[in-house]
Amino acid sequence: PQELRELLLSRIHDVPDYPKPGVMFKDITPLLADAKAFAALTDALAGLCERHGATKVVGLEARGFILAAPVAVRAGLGFVPVRKAGKLPGATLAQSYELEYGTAEIEMHADALVEGDRVLVIDDVLATGGTAEASLKLIRRAGAEVAGVAVLMELGFLPGRARLEPALDGAPLEALITV
Ligand code: PRP
Ligand code: MG
Repeated sequence: PQELRELLLSRIHDVPDYPKPGVMFKDITPLLADAKAFAALTDALAGLCERHGATKVVGLEARGFILAAPVAVRAGLGFVPVRKAGKLPGATLAQSYELEYGTAEIEMHADALVEGDRVLVIDDVLATGGTAEASLKLIRRAGAEVAGVAVLMELGFLPGRARLEPALDGAPLEALITV
């Protein structure tokens, strides 16, 4: 609803020229520091878990962890971390993806999901869609289903949604706000 969008937007601060000149950084730390706004965000995302029949919540390191962990608790679901390469101790599935310059790699424990799991991926921002796309590939490679991707914020001036479409394969991309 409009009221939620306005609350969330009012707690996201624009920081010009960070991390480099010409980039407008969307700082969510004021939202996290506001108990009412953080709870409203958590409730909204937990509602999406229910609506889309999720059985697991995947959070994308690092900022996605902050949002996804309380959502998992609120929704009564397990939390599965997708981490940057080299951080998980067990056997992993790895997926690399293109960045503006170079490539990055994320990993998930190979046994974190089971067949029949329906996974909602949660992150703070959808920009180019590279991170989310790689996470969906990991989830499918693990034999689980994708219930959807939910982000706090979609950067509507970037083609992330279009990039993600094939990997979503009909699953929803939910953005609470689009900037
Ligand atoms: C940021 C953001 C998203 C991702 C979106 O993460 O938190 O995860 O970029 O970009 P994309 O759609 O182009 O992939 P980043 O890895 O920069 O930092 P973080 O570890 O603080 O989350
Ligand atoms: Mg991130």
